[in-house]
Order: sequence, then C-alpha cells, then structure tokens
Amino acid sequence: MTLGTTVPQAYESKLYGEYSGLYDLFFARFFYPRIKAVIRDLKIPAGARVLELGVGTGLALRAYPPHCHVTGVDLAPDMLERAQERIDRKGWRHIELHQMNAMDLDFDDSSFDYVMAFHVISVVPDAGQFLAEARRVCKPDGRIIVINHFRSNKRVLASLDRRIEPITRRVGWHTLGRDEVFAESALELERVYKTSRRSLFTIVVARNAKPVVDSVVASRMVELDRQNAPAN
Ligand SMILES: C[S@@+](CC[C@H](N)C(=O)[O-])C[C@H]1O[C@@H](n2cnc3c(N)ncnc32)[C@H](O)[C@@H]1O
Repeated sequence: MTLGTTVPQAYESKLYGEYSGLYDLFFARFFYPRIKAVIRDLKIPAGARVLELGVGTGLALRAYPPHCHVTGVDLAPDMLERAQERIDRKGWRHIELHQMNAMDLDFDDSSFDYVMAFHVISVVPDAGQFLAEARRVCKPDGRIIVINHFRSNKRVLASLDRRIEPITRRVGWHTLGRDEVFAESALELERVYKTSRRSLFTIVVARNAKPVVDSVVASRMVELDRQNAPAN
C-alpha cells in the first residue's frame, strides 16, 4: 500500500511483513516490561472491553487480565499470524483478532472501555485520524492509552531524532512531537509519565471526554422525533 509518494512510509516496513519473525527477537525484551506495568496500573475491571490497535505479534496480550475481553487489530497479516499462534498456544479465549485498518475501524461508536496504542502512533501515516478513530470507538469517559517515543524537548536529542528519521522510516517508524499529536485530539490527558527517568518512551493515559450523546443516541432521537411528528 502506498500513499502516492516516493518517501518510504513507516507502516510499509518489511519488519511487519517478511521480517516479522525478527520483531519479538529485537523488541519483546525492551517493550514488554513497560507494557505489563502500564496495564497492571490500569486495574482493568472484570467484563471490560479492551481494543488494542496495531496489536502486532501480540506482545502485550499476556499482560491483560483474563477477566476482560480483548480485541486486537492490525493491518499486517504476518504480524497477526504470530499473534494468533500465541493465542492458540496459550488457549486464551478472552482474546480475538481482526485484520483491520486502525484509521478506519469497523466497530460501532462507543464500543470499548479501553483503547490501547502501543508503539503504533508513529507507524501509521496519519496520527490525527488514528486518534479520532480511537476516540470514536471508545466509550465516553473510557480511557485511551498510548505508549510511544516522542521527539525530545532537548535540542540536541530532537536534532538527533530528525537526523535519523530517514533510517527509522525504513525500519518502521517515524518520530512525532507529543504536543503535535495530542493538541488536536480533544482528549483530556490524565497522566503523562515515563517508567524511568531515562526512558525513551512516554506513557499517556487520556480520558475520552466526548459527549455521552453519540451517534447511536442521536439516531434514536431522530427516530423518536420522526415517530412523534404530526401526520400531515
Ligand atoms: C511497532 S509495531 C507495534 C506492535 C505492538 N503494539 C507492540 O507494541 O509490540 C506497529 C504495528 O502497527 C501495525 N500497523 C501499522 N499501521 C497500521 C494501521 N493503519 N492499522 C492497523 N495496524 C497498523 C503494524 O503492522 C505493526 O504490527
């Protein structure tokens, strides 16, 4: 899939296709402990519906309590295949996977209590559209949790990020500024933190502060109005 440009797009990286076998080898040990700590801190209640966007090889899946229901989506069939193997091996019945574009989700509005995005916002071509979809499918007052590397506020590190950008794009991600990602998202950032001072990764826990009147309620109101309208 291309965007009609010659600049390599992060999501087109072979890391999520033919080299997907290397993903866990390189990243599991760095990513999993942080993911596990973040999910544990959320204290996800029994019966909660969780959506993980860009679930990849399913690195995070073992961190979810089996009392919640997890839906994982990803565009890359090779990554999903590995995630499914993991689910089958462990016999997890509380997790289901779908091949789906996170920027155009096939779920109703307000379907999930939690929407997770771990190391994916800097892979998709449009972070704004990605967050808008996350917000749409998340219930009002639900939580959207992002773990990502964002451009540093320190000049030297920020310039390093910019210089290595052509390489990271080829490998499979690009570097965004945190403010530019969340400024337009209409999300209420509840907690922004790192698990250690030197960590390259930031955790953002955001409350979905959208109005309770969503499209489902709105269409019901239109229907009621129609039923109550005087016949002419
Ligand atoms: C860096 S990996 C992160 C995987 C996993 N969340 C983790 O932390 O290990 C990024 C994932 O996002 C997926 N991805 C990229 N663009 C996507 C899109 N538009 N919709 C769904 N998944 C996408 C890639 O296929 C890849 O599996």
